[in-house]
Amino acid sequence: TQAPLAVGIHDLAIATGHHVLDLDDLAATTGVDPAKYHVGIGQDAFSVPAPDEDIVTMGAAAAKEVLDRHGVDGIRTVLFATESGIDQSKAAGVFVHGLLGLPTNTRVVELKQACYGGTAAVQMALGIIARDPSERVLVIAADVARYDVDTAAEPTQGAGAVAMLIAADPDLVVLEPQSGLFTADVDDFWRPNDRSTALVDGRLSVTAYVDAFIGAWDDLASRGGPGIEAIDRFVHHQPFTKMAIKAHRKLAQHVDVPFEETELAVGFTYNRQTGNTYTASLWIALGALLDLDDDLAGARIGMFSYGSGSVGELMTGVVSERYREHRRAGRVADLLAARVPLSVEAYRELHAAGAATSDDVERPRVTAGPFRFAGVTGGARHYEATG
Ligand code: HMG
Repeated sequence: TQAPLAVGIHDLAIATGHHVLDLDDLAATTGVDPAKYHVGIGQDAFSVPAPDEDIVTMGAAAAKEVLDRHGVDGIRTVLFATESGIDQSKAAGVFVHGLLGLPTNTRVVELKQACYGGTAAVQMALGIIARDPSERVLVIAADVARYDVDTAAEPTQGAGAVAMLIAADPDLVVLEPQSGLFTADVDDFWRPNDRSTALVDGRLSVTAYVDAFIGAWDDLASRGGPGIEAIDRFVHHQPFTKMAIKAHRKLAQHVDVPFEETELAVGFTYNRQTGNTYTASLWIALGALLDLDDDLAGARIGMFSYGSGSVGELMTGVVSERYREHRRAGRVADLLAARVPLSVEAYRELHAAGAATSDDVERPRVTAGPFRFAGVTGGARHYEATG
């Protein structure tokens, strides 16, 4: 019998918004104790897109980095996951396809199930490569997390994107074939078609996340997945990083092992700064772990994806010996440090103007990224390279 094909994440790049809001500034405005943000929810800041940025510009920026390193050979599929879609019909990935000059013989589609969509895209990519190992799939996950201002959810906003190249014999992480699944119809978080901000039952969303994690764990165990002692690291979807601690504490009780919060800390590094990036969040956590943990070669990582509504999946992957050659901690640190701070007043003005529109509009030149959202004419959105 043949050894199973090793397929997984060959490259991963991160992009985020042009601006940043420091949660100390939000705390000073709202009168909340800053420790509630830093310790209570485990967040320090969140990214805010400039008026000429959105999921397309951030997704294209991350994808450009991947293509600059690997070229387009073998890429016949672009899967774009998002829950902040900019059109009800046209896939955001088609704009990215145009901006990046990808060949016409490509299939492009958008995927949605709240924050879970990125993981669905990765699973579909694995299937495509299993059928033809010479193919490589470009997966993009990009989101802008928007809640109403002056709500409990306001400090858990954020913006960002990842692009991943899924391929055979990957340089970063070989994804294992088994995973644990959990779906339950629950109204914990949703965004009706006429709203640009999400509605959420915060308390219910936290218990729904934990239930999905334990449910996915049990499913993985029932399918002969690795025991807790065989998983060396965990990364989670992080709407706020404390959520990962809450879920993990429950798993440790469930399988009767000790748990130290510091076990998860490296994977928090980027998400504490970007805020919730919905579909990109789990993969940004994985990026931080790969960039910042020196001892990962051969380690098995558990990766938990949760999308409200709700769908959860627990995947496992084994880190390639070659991962060390692809670490980009300096690049991401620079990206985060280069963000332009906003006052709370300026952030709230941008927030108020951030709702999607099909009216004719021209966007000011603000972003320092490689692509920008130029505006809308005749209801159609236009994007362009900035360089
Ligand atoms: P809240 O009103 O800030 O909650 O809302 P809280 O009053 O319970 O405080 C939060 C924590 O801060 C508590 O700790 C407090 O004790 C602590 P905990 O008991 O939870 O361990 N605290 C302090 N700590 C230190 N010093 C202090 C202090 N004061 C209080 N002085 C909530 C929190 C998460 C509900 C809110 O932020 C929210 O609604 N966020 C949006 C929803 C969300 O992110 N849900 C997460 C699960 S659902 C999910 O992950 C999916 C999602 O990404 C969307 C998708 O799938 O598309 C959201």
